[in-house]
Parts: sequence; C-alpha cells; structure tokens
Amino acid sequence: MKFICCNTYDALSEQAAEILKGLIREKPNAILGLATGSTPVGTYRALIRANRAGELDFSAVRSFNLDEYFPISQNDAQSYYTFMRQNLFDHVNIRLENTKIPNGEAKSAEAECALYEASLAEAGYPDLQILGIGENGHIGFNEPSDRLSESTHTVDLAESTIAANARFFDSQDDVPRRAITMGMGSILKSKKILLLVSGKKKHGVLNALFDASITTHIPATLLKLHPDVTVLYDLDAKNG
Ligand code: GLP
Repeated sequence: MKFICCNTYDALSEQAAEILKGLIREKPNAILGLATGSTPVGTYRALIRANRAGELDFSAVRSFNLDEYFPISQNDAQSYYTFMRQNLFDHVNIRLENTKIPNGEAKSAEAECALYEASLAEAGYPDLQILGIGENGHIGFNEPSDRLSESTHTVDLAESTIAANARFFDSQDDVPRRAITMGMGSILKSKKILLLVSGKKKHGVLNALFDASITTHIPATLLKLHPDVTVLYDLDAKNG
C-alpha cells in the first residue's frame, strides 16, 4: 500500500484525476471501477473539465460501480444510478450502455448479484478501481463483520452507515436498509486500486490503514493484500 499525502481535498481530487486521465489516455477502452459518496465528486469534476476541454475521451471507456441501495428505483433522487448520472455520466461522452451499476429494481437481489459478478468476470474486472471509505472502514457496502463475502452480494447496512448516509435523505427512516455491493474479493481482482481518504471524520480509519494489521472488522484493511494500491489522503484526514 502506497500512501500519498495531499494538502487539500482539491489537490487530492486533482491527483486522483491525473491518475485516471493517464490510464484512459494509455488505454482508451479502460474499465473503470467507480464509487459514490462525496469523496470522489471532486475527482469526477476534474474529469468532466478535462473532457469538456477536449483533453479526455470517454467514448470507449467502460465502467462498473461498486454498489447500489436495494430496493431502490433507478430514478430515485438518492439512487447511486442517479448519483452517477448527475456527477459524471451526463457530463462526459461515456456511452451509458458501457456503464454498469447493480440494479436496485431487480426482482431478485440474489439473481442480480450473480449476474453482476458474471459481467465483471466476463469483462475481466476493472483496470482501476476508485474507492472512498466509510468512517467505519467499509468499502463499497462491505460492512465490518466477523466474515466478509467474497463476491457481489446483498448486505444489511450497519446502523452507523445508515446514520452517516441520512444526510442525503429527508430523514434517517428514508435510508434503505439493504444494498447490493461488490465483495472484497471482487474488488481485490481490480488491476489497480486508488483509495481516497478525505476529511477529519476519516482520521481514525486512516490510522487503521497506517497500522500493519488486517481485520474484517475494518474491511479497508483487506486492501493491504493487493499488490497495487495507492492511498491518497488529505491533511484533514491526517490531522483529524
Ligand atoms: C457510501 C458508499 C461508499 C463510500 C462511503 C463514504 O456508504 N457506499 O462507497 O465510500 O459512502 O462516503 P463519503 O465519501 O461521502 O464519506
């Protein structure tokens, strides 16, 4: 795990975007693993600026998102489908048919999980997976637990995650209780991983990453098992 300290959130976002731009220029049909949450928004904005300036072409890029609430309709204001449209897809020349997000409207969550993992496997898993991190160390929606599922699966959200994500909803009661998420095993199959850690609230979990131990109770520590992980963190996360 390689750690890079950035002074500010904006600097972190620029640096993450530079890594993504490098990949897309080198491999125009790259497969990106994308994340939601507020952390990657600055990175997506930088990518949108580069695309608008004619410096970056998404026409052959493919993507897989990490997770989605379940059940949730695609057009719900809080679905991750809507988030990705609003924060990236609608502003760059990516083809929507090349973007994949677990389907929160699927009749069977279990069948959707199997289908999603099969499409990831068929595509060969992402060239680069961008990740945010939960305050409790969750990755995607892989919540702290004694056991973690390897591949795409359904999950009951932790109370702390429901509370943390309530800021996006009218009330905490409106936050869905379940989600579909890629498993830590699926995530570890990406060729490269870029983990973004920003803000004072992530101080505790950043320290857990600096620590050498690996535990399913802080799912992000499993990323230490991957040979090519870069952690970009800002001074707010470092100093708390
Ligand atoms: C959600 C997402 C995660 C994300 C986390 C942190 O729970 N499922 O993928 O990393 O939020 O979000 P934020 O970046 O807003 O702190």
